[in-house]
Amino acid sequence: MNHDVIIALDFPSAADVYAFLDRFQQEKPFVKIGMELFYAEGPEIVRQIKARGHKIFLDLKLHDIPNTVKSAMRVLSRLDVDMVNLHAAGTIDMMRAALEGLTREDGTRPLLLAVTQLTSTSEERMQKELLINATMPDTVKHYAYNAFIAGLDGVVCSPLEAALVKEACGPNFATVTPGIRFADSAADDQRRVMTPAKARLGGSDYIVVGRPITRAEDPVAAYRRCVKEFLG
Ligand code: C5P
Repeated sequence: MNHDVIIALDFPSAADVYAFLDRFQQEKPFVKIGMELFYAEGPEIVRQIKARGHKIFLDLKLHDIPNTVKSAMRVLSRLDVDMVNLHAAGTIDMMRAALEGLTREDGTRPLLLAVTQLTSTSEERMQKELLINATMPDTVKHYAYNAFIAGLDGVVCSPLEAALVKEACGPNFATVTPGIRFADSAADDQRRVMTPAKARLGGSDYIVVGRPITRAEDPVAAYRRCVKEFLG
């Protein structure tokens, strides 16, 4: 199992992203491109960042009928990204179709991760609005297991849920966890946070870190600190 720190490139434009990435002269961090940047700049931003030598997690969280997701995944795999995701709520059939679409002619494919329940969804709303009559930990575990059965590589989850996911799906099922903060940095709008070192101990394989690096006075130093704390 690989382990790495993924920087969330939550910037509104390509110009902001390149200015940020230009600071990194010695290393090529693994980066995450989300909806805002992708919808603003289109697939070209992915090609450009890939051409600069970065690994890319394309965080678009697909959720549609299986055939549509399969076709969309086929397009994304041509972008040569390293990691993509979808909502496990789309069912096992949808996840299997996604895997099919993602697999290139030579048999290779990006890692495919599932979102279980968004960390912004509270247990109360999940039960009342989504009519899911179970606890949040049981739901996360069940959705992760569905992803495992479908043949996916792992899930995006809270670092507090990583151990639970490993327990349900085994050590080789990857956990990618946002909600990471240094012991001495602000939590921002994240409610439940963990330090890089604690996340690693708790079973996170990859951590996704945004503001503690992107808004740091010295982003390169903050990235290095994160890597050191996470990878030891
Ligand atoms: O700035 P911060 O470190 O909070 O950024 C975390 C990144 O991870 C953001 O891109 C955010 O959208 C994403 N994310 C998250 N919580 C989730 C899923 C994704 O914070 N449950």
